[in-house]
Amino acid sequence: MTNPAHVRIGIIGIGTMGTHHVELVMGKKIPRCDLQAICDTDPERLAKYSTVRAFTDSRQLIRSGLVDAVIVATPHFDHTTIGIDALENGLHLLTEKPISVHKADCEKLIDAYKKRPKKSQLFGAVFQVRTEPAYIKLHQLIKSGELGEIRRINWIQTDYFRTEAYYASGGWRATWRGEGGGVLTNQCPHTLDLMQWLFGLPTKVRAFCGMGRWHDIEVEDQVSAYLEYANGATGVFVATTGESPGTNRLEIAAENGKVVVENGKITWTKNVMGMSEFSKTTTERFARPEVWNIEIPAGGQALHHLGIIQNFCDAILDGKPLIAPAVEGIHSVELGNAMVLSSILDKTLELPLDSAMVEKQYQKLIRESKFEKKKVAKASGGDFEKSIHR
Ligand SMILES: NC(=O)c1ccc[n+]([C@@H]2O[C@H](COP(=O)([O-])OP(=O)(O)OC[C@H]3O[C@@H](n4cnc5c(N)ncnc54)[C@H](O)[C@@H]3O)[C@@H](O)[C@H]2O)c1
Repeated sequence: MTNPAHVRIGIIGIGTMGTHHVELVMGKKIPRCDLQAICDTDPERLAKYSTVRAFTDSRQLIRSGLVDAVIVATPHFDHTTIGIDALENGLHLLTEKPISVHKADCEKLIDAYKKRPKKSQLFGAVFQVRTEPAYIKLHQLIKSGELGEIRRINWIQTDYFRTEAYYASGGWRATWRGEGGGVLTNQCPHTLDLMQWLFGLPTKVRAFCGMGRWHDIEVEDQVSAYLEYANGATGVFVATTGESPGTNRLEIAAENGKVVVENGKITWTKNVMGMSEFSKTTTERFARPEVWNIEIPAGGQALHHLGIIQNFCDAILDGKPLIAPAVEGIHSVELGNAMVLSSILDKTLELPLDSAMVEKQYQKLIRESKFEKKKVAKASGGDFEKSIHR
């Protein structure tokens, strides 16, 4: 019996992430969401869940009539092909990050969404870091204009330490052909998404990536990027999976002071008078604006994946706005592509990128790859919680 006030959901890709989604939905943590079907190309991944219909081919699940919506948690290139298939067949789609590997694939996916057979179909992305109270507060602070014009941002995101065992857990990982990139494609889509959500996209990117700098992999595991924005603001972004304990620290210098976000806390050293006005009006040579030290309360708990799936169902059933509409997912992909290609081409790139050029470059990386993985083991999956960005 189907319940019209519930979303009948299918989950495709039952690996590390998909298993977590299955446990959330099966564990009835999300009201009005019923798990009806699962799919993985590896039948062993399905055996554990004997009470749900299981498929080894996503096309059969999508056409089964059993589900209204699917969550796609497969390796990245399949987000595009499976996502397009789901959208063309009238299903709501919640896709894991990144929505695709490169800008051209994002455009294909978004195009399928624009041409969807039912206007009611929704398309969301699993950008669960958007549910963290500190970033929600910061977003309000910036968008309300309270912080004033931004001059500089520095984001150090080096706390995604990954071991060689991690990279060996799946042949697709950290290869151009299987994954389409490294830290910018797998770990940092959340940070890149927050950057575009908070600050918009830069107009220029110059980056230096270390390919397999700290691990036996062929893709980037170290990134240092310089960014320029349309208003003249500058940014520096540093990321790696090769540093422990690592840091996650965002510093913003804006007209009305300095904001630091670290360890879930926001501190604002607020200029009582905006620095431009102060500079123009004071007669003193070495004076600075008076400051107030403000610790902004960012209370509440981040709901992460649970919050994103809950919101996806609420959006389908009640018309609630999506926390992360997947059409916005193209921006973080473009930003990551710009960093990788700026480094490879050894030049500054201007955004928007030409998507045909981007696709050509990624195809070249795949074609010219000579890297062979020495060891591949099955993911143990047990320590997934430790992998989540906090
Ligand atoms: N949002 C987050 O916090 C978060 C965290 C981890 C991973 N992810 C994302 O989840 C996705 C999967 O990552 P993972 O770490 O779970 O990988 P994984 O290798 O552990 O699992 C992938 C699963 O997909 C299956 N699969 C491969 N091709 C398939 C296909 N065509 N159809 C059906 N199943 C297929 C594999 O057999 C495997 O079981 C990636 O997009 C990754 O970036 C998101």
